[in-house]
Amino acid sequence: MNFLLETLKSIVLFVYYVLESLVFCVVPRRKKNVSGETVLITGAGSGLGRALSLKFASLGATLVLWDINQEGLKETSRLARENGGVRVHCYICDCSKRQDIYRVADQVKKEVGDINILVNNAGIVTGKRFIDCPDSLVEKTMEVNIMAHFWTYKAFLPAMMASNHGHLVSIASSAGLVGTNHLADYSASKFAAVGFAESVAFEMRHMGKTGVKTTTVCPYIMNTGMFDGCSTKWPTLLPTLETEYVAEKVITAIRQDQEMLILPRFIYFLLALKSVISVKAAVALGDYFGAFCVMAGFKGRAKKD
Ligand SMILES: NC(=O)c1ccc[n+]([C@@H]2O[C@H](COP(=O)([O-])OP(=O)(O)OC[C@H]3O[C@@H](n4cnc5c(N)ncnc54)[C@H](O)[C@@H]3O)[C@@H](O)[C@H]2O)c1
Repeated sequence: MNFLLETLKSIVLFVYYVLESLVFCVVPRRKKNVSGETVLITGAGSGLGRALSLKFASLGATLVLWDINQEGLKETSRLARENGGVRVHCYICDCSKRQDIYRVADQVKKEVGDINILVNNAGIVTGKRFIDCPDSLVEKTMEVNIMAHFWTYKAFLPAMMASNHGHLVSIASSAGLVGTNHLADYSASKFAAVGFAESVAFEMRHMGKTGVKTTTVCPYIMNTGMFDGCSTKWPTLLPTLETEYVAEKVITAIRQDQEMLILPRFIYFLLALKSVISVKAAVALGDYFGAFCVMAGFKGRAKKD
């Protein structure tokens, strides 16, 4: 194809897709049915993982729940059954260990079958200045928040590709889009999660595996307990998010095959602005929004949880 034709084709496609996205801002997209699909959720023992488990249970999905916390997992399983979940399978899996992931994944394939929707949700945060982070915690953060995504994809993606049917969901963070102090290792792991999910999505498209969908989720602070003690300077613009609200948005994004979900929406505007203004202007804006003292009161999740 010559230069002129290819340029014309690209302009037409570009305009078409921009208009399509504008239409979908007004007209809601159709939601796919997840009843009968097998959904694996890591870190299902509390917080967002638990909230997502309950929603998938009420939609008739078969649940495969992983966590390192046995008590939390038991409680999620009980609540999921109360919410209509009839097929709930719980596994203790330490997502910081590749061999544990592969071992439990094999067990799941034998006992339950292939996974249709994989939700990489398990996550940890240290919340210290990078220089004060013990090496072991930096490594653990990378192992749970990103390396686990590699190994779960290796375990479950081949079957999705073979049937050209599946959905990869990555629970990243707004800290995976913008760095901030006291979150250097966490932010690095979440940037990696965003880049990894996007790259695999492009690989699927390039290989014609258009039936394997992807959704990356980047929420601001949620009230799950993980970021206990953190505060937001202007809650009207950047509120602490309710776990239930985020879970509902995530389920809708998955059911509508939405590739990227950033919450709250105001962050889309800040990101666009950040990419066109100078670093000094961005720092002034960050100061105004209290971005550099969000972690000042950080306590995090109590040990017993
Ligand atoms: N809470 C927030 O403000 C917030 C904001 C943005 C993104 N996120 C992300 O959302 C996800 C869910 O976080 P949450 O707020 O529900 O936290 P949470 O602490 O309530 O839940 C995390 C779950 O992961 C499990 N987990 C931790 N290490 C594990 C391991 N090695 N193996 C298996 N499971 C393990 C925990 O036991 C826990 O059940 C995380 O990836 C987090 O980084 C959270």
